[in-house]
Amino acid sequence: KKTYTRHGLLYFCGFCIIFVSYLAHCTMDRIEAQNRIDQLTELLNDASRRYYVDNSPVMTDYEFDMFLKELEQLEKEYPDLSRDDSPVRRVGSDLADNGRNEFVQRPHKHPMLSLGNTYDISEVEAFADRAKKGLGKAFTYSCELKFDGTAICLTYRDGVLYRALTRGDGKVGDDVTANALHIYNIPRKLKLPAGFVPTAERPAPWPSEFEIRGEVYMPWSSFDRLNIEREKDEEPPFANPRNAASGSLKLIDSKAVAGRGLECTLYHMIGDGLPFETHSQALDSALEWGLPVSDKRKVCRDIEEIEEYINYWDKARKELPFATDGIVIKVNELAYQKELGYTAKFPRWAVAYKFKAEQALTKLLSIDYQVGRTGAVTPVANLEPVLLSGTVVKRASLHNEDQMNLLDIHIGDYVYVEKGGEIIPKITGVEKTMRPADAPLPVFPRTCPDCGATLERDPDEAKAFCPNSGGCPKQIQARLVHFLSRKAMNVIAGDATVEQMFNLSLVKKPSDFYRLDRDKLLMLDGWKEKSVNRFLESLQDSKNTPFQKVLYALGIRYVGETTARIVAEHFGSIDRIIEAPLQEIQDVEEVGDVIARSIFEYFHNEDNLREIESLRSFGLRFSIEAEKAENTDKLQGNIIVISGNFSVSRDEIKELIRINGGKNSSSVSSRTTYLLAGEKPGPEKVRKAQDLGVKIIGEAEFRSMIHESDVESRNDDAGSASDTSERRTYVEGEQLSLF
Ligand code: IVH
Repeated sequence: KKTYTRHGLLYFCGFCIIFVSYLAHCTMDRIEAQNRIDQLTELLNDASRRYYVDNSPVMTDYEFDMFLKELEQLEKEYPDLSRDDSPVRRVGSDLADNGRNEFVQRPHKHPMLSLGNTYDISEVEAFADRAKKGLGKAFTYSCELKFDGTAICLTYRDGVLYRALTRGDGKVGDDVTANALHIYNIPRKLKLPAGFVPTAERPAPWPSEFEIRGEVYMPWSSFDRLNIEREKDEEPPFANPRNAASGSLKLIDSKAVAGRGLECTLYHMIGDGLPFETHSQALDSALEWGLPVSDKRKVCRDIEEIEEYINYWDKARKELPFATDGIVIKVNELAYQKELGYTAKFPRWAVAYKFKAEQALTKLLSIDYQVGRTGAVTPVANLEPVLLSGTVVKRASLHNEDQMNLLDIHIGDYVYVEKGGEIIPKITGVEKTMRPADAPLPVFPRTCPDCGATLERDPDEAKAFCPNSGGCPKQIQARLVHFLSRKAMNVIAGDATVEQMFNLSLVKKPSDFYRLDRDKLLMLDGWKEKSVNRFLESLQDSKNTPFQKVLYALGIRYVGETTARIVAEHFGSIDRIIEAPLQEIQDVEEVGDVIARSIFEYFHNEDNLREIESLRSFGLRFSIEAEKAENTDKLQGNIIVISGNFSVSRDEIKELIRINGGKNSSSVSSRTTYLLAGEKPGPEKVRKAQDLGVKIIGEAEFRSMIHESDVESRNDDAGSASDTSERRTYVEGEQLSLF
C-alpha cells in the first residue's frame, strides 16, 4: 500500500513539475510576444511616419510588409496583447504630427482605406476563392496597375473640381485643392462627351456630386530631373518617385507644384446612386468626361486571366515611364463590391499583388569623395558594372559618412543596389556572408581631397564640409558651373569649358565671365570664331535673366530654385535682401531657420557684396520688374501640342502655356491651334500637323507670343536652326554624365 502511495506521490509531483513548467513556458511566450509586439508596433509606426509624413523611408516596402505580417500573426495569437496604436488596424497617416501642418484638414465623406497586399500569387488565388464563395455567382475582375504615388480624393460638384484631399489618416485629409489645380492633367472642369445632348432633366452625364480617387505620381523623367537639381543644390534627393510625389503635392507654394511634373491617374469613383453597374464602366465614363484614367486596365474572367495580366506587367512595367509597385485586382460589379464590404482597413473586394523591387548584387571596387560647390563632400561608390532594370550601373551614391557606417560597408564587399530612380541608384545593403576576409573599412577623409583643408562637420548635419570656400579649386569651379547652368544664367558652356578657363586663371568668380573678351577667348584651345561668338552672345543674353534666377545663380547655400523664387518675390530686389534683418528673412514663408541664416550670412560678407556690385555694373538684374504679371490670357482659346526638346523642360513649357490661358494637348488633331516644335520634334506629329494644316511654330516664336522679357530669342539669332550642336538643350530624361 505504501509503495502504492509513494508511486502516487511521485506521479503527482511529476505532473506538478510538468504543469508548472508548461505555465512558465506559456508566460515566457507571452512575455516574449508582448515584447515583440511592442517592438514591432513602435518600429512600424515610426517607419510609417518616416514614409508618409517625412517622405524619407527607413526601410523597403517589402521589409515593412513582412514586419506587418509578423505583427498581424502575433496579434491573432495574442489578441489581448495588441496595442491601441497598432498599425494592423490603422492606415498609415500622411498628416504631420508635429503641430506644423500647413494645410486645412477636412473629413472624408467615405473613409479612405488602404489595400490588403501580398507578394504571393497563391494569396491572390485565395482572394479569388473567397470572393467566389462569398458571392456564389458569376462575376468579373478589374485588373489594374498599382501606381506608386500618393493617394488623392477629388470631389466634383456640377462638373467643377470642388475639393482635393490627401488620404490623411483615412478619416480626415489635408486640403490640397490649390495644389491639385497645378497638376496638369487634373481638369478643373469636366467636359461633355461627344454626342451627349444636354436636356433640362439631364444637363450633364455626371452626378451633381461625386468623388473620384486616385494617385498622384511623379514620372521617372520628372523624378530624375528633380533629384539632379536637388543633388546640385545639395539638398537630399528623394528616395523614390512616391516620396517625391507626396512631398511635391504638399508644397506650401502651389505654383512650385506645377514645376514638379506631377501626374494623376484615377481609379475609384464613389457617389450616391452612380448610374453604373461595374467599376470599369464608371472609369470608362470618367475618361469620357476628361478625367485621367489608365488605359492599361483589363477586365478578367478568372484567375488564369489575372495571372496572365500579372505576368505580362511584371515584365512590361519596366518600360513604363512611371513607377508601379504591383497589380490591383478588384471585383468589378459594384453591387458585389457592396456585398463583400470592408474590414476596418481594407475593402474585401480588392487585393494588391506587389512586385518585389529589383535588386542587383555587385562588388564595391572603391569610393570617391567628391567636393561640391558648397564644399559638401559626398562619397560615391565605384561598382563592378552590373545590369539593373535595363541599364548598366557603375556608380552609386553613398550620401554621407553616417550612411556608410550604417551599412557597415567595406571595400570589396558585395552590395545590393536598387534604383530609387533611373539615374541615381543607391546601395541598400551589404551581403556580409560574401565579405572577403581582408576587406578593408573605408576611411572617410578628414581633409579635403582637393585642397587639403581640414573638413568640418556640423553636428546637426550628416555631411562633411570643406571650409575653404574661397580657395578650394573644386568648390570654385563647381560654383562657376552652377552660375552658368541652365536654371541659373543659362549660358552655353559645358563643365569642361569652365575648367579650361579656370585652369588658365581667366575666371575665378562669376563676374570674370563678363570681363572676358574676344581675344582672350580665341586663345583657348579648340575655340574658333563661331564658338567665341556664340559664347559671347549667350553671355550678353544672360544679362536679361530674371532676378529670381540671378539670385539662384549666386549659389547661396541651401538656396535652391524654389527658395530663390520665393525670396526674390518677397523682397523684390537684392538691396532689400541685403538690408533685411535676420528676423525678416526667417519670417518668409517656407524659409526655415537654417536657410535664413545662410542667406543673411551671405549678404554680410564683404567679398560677396563686392561681387554683387561687379555683376550689377555688368547689367545683371537685381530686382523684379513690376510689370511682369504672372497669368495672362495671351494664349486664350489656343490648343497647343508640343514636341521635341526645348531650352527648358517640357513641363515648364506646359506651365507657360497654362499660365497664359492656353491648353496643352498630347496629340495633333483638327482642333489643334499650334504645334510647338522644339529640337528634334516627333516626325509623326510634324507630318500630321502638315496634313491638317496646323501651324508649326518654334520656341522663339512661342516666347514672343507670350512676350516674355527673359526670352531666349537667341535661338533665332544664333544662326540657322540646325546650328545647335553645342547648345545645351534640355533633353527629357537627360542622364547625369556621372552615372
Ligand atoms: S484602389 C478602397 N487601385 O495603393 C481602396 N488603389 O497600397 C481603393 N493604389 O491606398 C484603392 N494604384 O493609394 C486602387 N489601381 C489602383 C491603385 C491603388 C495605386 C494605391 C492606393 C491605395 C494603395 C494601397
